[in-house]
Amino acid sequence: MHIITRLAIASCLTLTLQAQDAPKPYLRTPSPRQITWQQREYYAFIHFGPNTFTDEEWGRSQSTPDVFAPTTLDTDQWAESFARAGMAGMILTAKHHDGMALWKTNSTTYKIDNGKWAKDRAAKGLETDVVRMAAASAKKYGIDFGIYLSPWDIHRDPAMPKEHLAGTIYAEPQIFGDSSPGDYNELYVQQLTELVTMKHDDGSPVEIFEIWLDGASGSNTVQTFNWTAFRDIIRQHQPNAIMWGHQGVDARWVGNEDGVTVATNWHTINRTQDDKRYSESELQTGMRDGTYWTPAEADARIRDGWFYHANEKPKTADALMKMYLQSVGQSVNLLLDVPPDRTGKIDAVDAEVLLQFKAQRDRFLNRGLLKPGFVVNASSVRGGGSSTFAAANVLTNDKTYWTMDDNKRVGSLTVDLGADALVDAFIVQEHVTLGQRIGAYAVDAMINGSYKEVVRGTSMGYKRIHQLTSAVRTRQLRLRIEQANAVPLIQYFQALGTSS
Ligand SMILES: *[C@@H]1O[C@H](CO)[C@@H](O)[C@H](O)[C@H]1NC(C)=O
Ligand SMILES: *[C@@H]1O[C@H](CO)[C@@H](O)[C@H](O)[C@H]1NC(C)=O
Ligand SMILES: *[C@@H]1O[C@H](CO)[C@@H](O)[C@H](O)[C@H]1NC(C)=O
Ligand SMILES: *[C@@H]1O[C@H](CO)[C@@H](O)[C@H](O)[C@H]1NC(C)=O
Ligand SMILES: *[C@@H]1O[C@H](CO)[C@@H](O)[C@H](O)[C@H]1NC(C)=O
Repeated sequence: MHIITRLAIASCLTLTLQAQDAPKPYLRTPSPRQITWQQREYYAFIHFGPNTFTDEEWGRSQSTPDVFAPTTLDTDQWAESFARAGMAGMILTAKHHDGMALWKTNSTTYKIDNGKWAKDRAAKGLETDVVRMAAASAKKYGIDFGIYLSPWDIHRDPAMPKEHLAGTIYAEPQIFGDSSPGDYNELYVQQLTELVTMKHDDGSPVEIFEIWLDGASGSNTVQTFNWTAFRDIIRQHQPNAIMWGHQGVDARWVGNEDGVTVATNWHTINRTQDDKRYSESELQTGMRDGTYWTPAEADARIRDGWFYHANEKPKTADALMKMYLQSVGQSVNLLLDVPPDRTGKIDAVDAEVLLQFKAQRDRFLNRGLLKPGFVVNASSVRGGGSSTFAAANVLTNDKTYWTMDDNKRVGSLTVDLGADALVDAFIVQEHVTLGQRIGAYAVDAMINGSYKEVVRGTSMGYKRIHQLTSAVRTRQLRLRIEQANAVPLIQYFQALGTSS
């Protein structure tokens, strides 16, 4: 009798411990740097350089560095505008396709440091390295900093004639292309190394959160890039940096430049930068259960062009809100280009639109009806009701989540709002740290005594924001997971609306 009891207690303990273990990771999972990156959600792109002054988008490397002449460059104003707008960081074009470097490099003569603007500043003892200035401003205003370094380099591409530079110190060897003499990869490696090892004035390293390796090319020159070498340099010096590319290493292009994606899209794909190029539609959808965790980033413009053009107008806050719901609201990060003008500042009109958009976003999102402390019922809870995986975990947007036993693929949560409310949107988040599992889900609202489906979704992923076409009056909500390839993990569930 005595012995039996002790055995029973022991096996009961073992069972409880096993059941309370977290589910095993499902196939591919994000690296810690990818998780941190996904949580940034929305940040700025800054196209600035010779094109700003020649009114071009793809300058042909015909201007000397004297062309770069901002009248009152103010990188603090960039960073302050973005920080106030709730953007998590900013990515600057250190070198666009035209090849002119915005930082103090000794890899090329073709750099703004050789132009009149920089020489005038240097004579006054002022900083002339625009990349370092921007990095310092980002740090000052508490946002992250990233760089764009164009792999395609017109300045070095023999297919792109540069008559205006002939006979100047800017006529440099045409090394771009596999059949050209010289090794362009070596030049790129030097430029990349300079950027990822850049230091602030106080000697601390400039931390880079994302490096944008644009896949665009406007000539037929075939250049094989040594992505492995580039990646090794980035990993060595900036282990927290996301390496962005067409189909990516850490993050992929979303397949369009409009800040939108399709409803069914996965964080994984089957190819990286080294492999054959994906089509735009494949980049949008990604691939369920793919070989690599490579989430999408949607790049978009506040104006028509990437560079500033005085005749263009910014989009409205309404348009940006729509874009946000179609990118961040569909598990994709939003990289919004806001170009400085010829003074070297963000246009006041654009800065104002960013603030209006922030206010609109906050008004929309800060109407959560589900509060910590609410009772959430679940169809079942892992380990026979373990508090570690409790249904109420979905009320807080933190690392905790609701899940069930490993053999479960479907399940549901119900929650009572305490009183009738007008609900017009929902937020759902999968705990993607352990992989993307869910392929079909729905939200129901109790209307006149029975549940009515108001949201239907497929690939949930990091975050979904579902806006209803019209608000529903309800008091009880149900989240149903209808399909998953492994036990589903829900990190967050929220209803937006007004109590009535
Ligand atoms: C190039 O610049 C780097 C960093 O600014 C410096 O360490 C190096 O000595 C320079 N090389 C030459 C050849 O000037
Ligand atoms: C790419 O760079 C690496 C060094 O990181 C080198 O070992 C390799 O040979 C290079 N590949 C090619 C094809 O040049
Ligand atoms: C993607 O890769 C996985 C794993 O290698 C493979 O099972 C799957 O068939 C591939 N999917 C496509 C569409 O190529
Ligand atoms: C949750 O479960 C309790 C206890 O069974 C029940 O009284 C309550 O009505 C349930 N709430 C919802 C919203 O299903
Ligand atoms: C709920 O029921 C009432 C009375 O039957 C009806 O007037 C109303 O239209 C119903 N509301 C909805 C949303 O179905």
